[in-house]
Amino acid sequence: MRIDILTVVPELLASPLNASILRRAQQTGHVQIVVHDIREYAVGKHRQVDDYPFGGEAGMVLKPEPIFRCIENLRGERHYDEVIYTSPDGVRYDQREANRLSLLGNIIILCGHYKGIDHRIREHLVTREISIGDYVLTGGELAAAVIADSVVRLLPGAIGDEASALTDCFQDNLLAPPVYTRPAEFNGWHVPEVLLSGNFAEIAKWQEEQALERTQRLRPDLF
Ligand code: ADE
Repeated sequence: MRIDILTVVPELLASPLNASILRRAQQTGHVQIVVHDIREYAVGKHRQVDDYPFGGEAGMVLKPEPIFRCIENLRGERHYDEVIYTSPDGVRYDQREANRLSLLGNIIILCGHYKGIDHRIREHLVTREISIGDYVLTGGELAAAVIADSVVRLLPGAIGDEASALTDCFQDNLLAPPVYTRPAEFNGWHVPEVLLSGNFAEIAKWQEEQALERTQRLRPDLF
């Protein structure tokens, strides 16, 4: 899989993309993630990427030309299955969408910034608009990192223990059951007895009950 991320603040992505699973998945060739600085596609002495909005509102809007050039350049090199735009007014992101994206070949993620991007880009080039929640971030970069992380961990072989992505929260629309590790008793606090029993049928039953109870109590909307 290849993920191209277009941004005016590439430094915001450096750390999340270069640590932990995302770093390893790139090193092992499960994914190629390329960050593009939109400013490099801007022309003129100041390489201007934003401008005042028509209509006189406050804030700045990303200009269409540099984004268009960058996307056209990429599309000249390979086919892209989706051009995603991260924005608070997009469709709410969830595990189902992460699963869907993980099955694609190449995707572009365009990060919004300031007041947003010129709407013509959304109309003519963007194929999917994604919000990671009902709150406003300074830009779409953190949302792009969230999308990349949640997608890459689903790629077969990208995380060491493949089974663990399948037991993630939300994979079956349930919250995950609690997990414990050694020591079995710490500070007078005990690990539930059943987990020490070695009876895997009982353990599976307990985990399912816990998942159901936690979902019912904390996220009844998931049912
Ligand atoms: N950009 C700013 N806020 C955002 C959000 N909630 N989701 C995606 N992109 C954003």
